[in-house]
Amino acid sequence: MEKLVINGGKRLSGKVRVSGSKNAALPLMASSILVPGEIHLKNVPHLNDIKTMSKLLSSLGIRIAEDENELILDASNIEDFQAPYEIVKTMRASILVLGPLLAREGKAKVSLPGGCAIGARPVNLHLKGLEKLGVDVKLSHGYIDAKVKRLKGARIHFDISTVTGTENIMMAATYAKGTTILENAALEPEVVELAKALKKMGAKIEGEGTKEMTIEGVDALNPISYTVIPDRIEAGTLMVAAGVTGGEVTLLDANPLHMEVVIEKLKEAGMVIKEENNQINVKAGDKIKSVDVKTAPYPGFPTDMQAQFMVMMCMADNVSVISETIFENRFMHVLELLRMGAKIHIEGNSAIVKGIKALSGAKVMATDLRASASLVLAGLAAEGTTELLRIYHLDRGYERLDQKLSILGADIRREKGGL
Ligand code: EPU
Repeated sequence: MEKLVINGGKRLSGKVRVSGSKNAALPLMASSILVPGEIHLKNVPHLNDIKTMSKLLSSLGIRIAEDENELILDASNIEDFQAPYEIVKTMRASILVLGPLLAREGKAKVSLPGGCAIGARPVNLHLKGLEKLGVDVKLSHGYIDAKVKRLKGARIHFDISTVTGTENIMMAATYAKGTTILENAALEPEVVELAKALKKMGAKIEGEGTKEMTIEGVDALNPISYTVIPDRIEAGTLMVAAGVTGGEVTLLDANPLHMEVVIEKLKEAGMVIKEENNQINVKAGDKIKSVDVKTAPYPGFPTDMQAQFMVMMCMADNVSVISETIFENRFMHVLELLRMGAKIHIEGNSAIVKGIKALSGAKVMATDLRASASLVLAGLAAEGTTELLRIYHLDRGYERLDQKLSILGADIRREKGGL
């Protein structure tokens, strides 16, 4: 096992490139199942979740070649239709093969994702949507056993906005007979990118980026080449890193249009932010101001940035209230931040954060991906040394975050040892 050792208090400065988006790349990879030919994906980040998806797709018979940040996926021959427990338990996004396998093969057997560190995260809306498309769904021995002769278009209403749910049904509907209408579809940029890629393959989709999407089924989809968008959550994490270290950082290859609310909140907290095309320059203000935040589906404040923003509020001038409305257990980082001296009090789904002058370095443990990013940020800002254990969570979703921070002047190194 590896750990990160961070000596805090170094001001970050310089330029850093934002990697391709994990949550955009994963559904794009799954969409390759729909096409009997080569899909070229560019700007794919090197991450453990991407490796897990590659492993899963390979086990289905998809040939995958890798050239730096490009993946070439060829699903000419699908040889299997199962996503085993061993893979799904390490990455819930494995559920994304369900829709495309049903569309291409008419059958899929996918392990039902179990509990998760951040919340219950059921997949009932994925299954309800597929049933509306005519799929026979059975749950047996921990698996979703799904079969369909021919998918049929339908009107599907999502009671809750779901990112991978919208993606799964969208992929299934591309091959359905007739028209599918998705109501209360998710608006996240990653969903829009999947729709754009599917359209490039020949799918007939309208309304992506709005709450109502229409998908007209087609008989065939074609090979394409597609570039993954920049990771808006990595970009936001790096912006907070500049903010909590009193630094100034320029993000290259970023897309400020995907992060308007995050930029707005960081400005309210006192940061000076300038956007120019695909570059964002962020500079810490003289002091950090307390700002309330409530997570919400896009275009609201992303739940995936809640933990990182909280670290900034730990050092703000007053009291802020951070409310989590998407996942019911996404405050695991709070207990670790308390060990670093933070003053946080949890009341229901809100964390009341009283700013203090400085956090103090400590041994802390990562519990999930974004919680681990927040603890890295806390370590950068803290007085003294922080040791972050269980960094496999971080490596699931950040491409060499420690190296990027080092380039910006952080004193951070990977060491063997730890839990
Ligand atoms: N939900 C249901 N039933 C469903 C599906 C969702 O009740 O069938 C609920 C969830 O429990 C949650 C809410 O709906 O309360 C929204 O969940 P959503 O389905 O949108 O989440 P997801 O698709 O499982 C994706 C990202 C997450 C991100 C969320 C919210 C991917 C691969 N994952 O998850 O990313 O937090 O959307 O934006 O796109 C991360 O990268 O760290 C991460 C967790």
